[in-house]
Amino acid sequence: MSTWANLNLQDSASPLMEQLIFFHDHELLILVMITVLVGYLMLTLFFNKYINRFLLHGQLIEVIWTILPAIILLFIAFPSLRLLYLIDEINEPSVTLKSIGHQWYWSYEYSDFNNIEFDSYMIPTNELNNDGFRLLDVDNRIILPMNSQIRILVTAADVIHSWTIPALGVKVDGTPGRLNQTNFFINRPGLFYGQCSEICGANHSFMPIVIESVPVNYFIKWISNNVNS
Ligand code: CUA
Repeated sequence: MSTWANLNLQDSASPLMEQLIFFHDHELLILVMITVLVGYLMLTLFFNKYINRFLLHGQLIEVIWTILPAIILLFIAFPSLRLLYLIDEINEPSVTLKSIGHQWYWSYEYSDFNNIEFDSYMIPTNELNNDGFRLLDVDNRIILPMNSQIRILVTAADVIHSWTIPALGVKVDGTPGRLNQTNFFINRPGLFYGQCSEICGANHSFMPIVIESVPVNYFIKWISNNVNS
């Protein structure tokens, strides 16, 4: 999760988020180079000696400053498309989780396991324990196995919501009447926090998401306890 004064992206917990961070850094580097170049060119204008005041055109420089931005854009476009299609790829998921957005809470269904289903509400500040995170903790967490391909299906019951977990690089809109899918792979255990990120009404800010990533045998134990009850 994001902690105090963190202006960067959160640490990745999935291979795709790691790639997204690499892409972000790559693009930022290009941005810095362009800014420095343009800044330098603008600065030199202040010290113009008007030596070339009868200059009307320059074929070579015009060819260069037309082609160069196009080439720079390719260096952004190709890695961007690569990532976009990589994120869309579903690779033999071992667990499918369905999450349904409501005003204003999420509900979840484990369709593979006797359809375990539960609601997940934010814990109000006045009911929070000392170790809880305000506006971020929920009463029922999603339990998911680490080191497994997980498919998630997102939909909504009333208005559009968005199921967003920054550390996993996941952001899928839940739209009434539609079922969107994506997949991710959590490569470490821990708690991963997310929030709804589609302006969905008065309590939009109060429908957080918490994933508890656990080893596979713990997950199986949790599943079998819940299937029987
Ligand atoms: Cu649901 Cu914003």
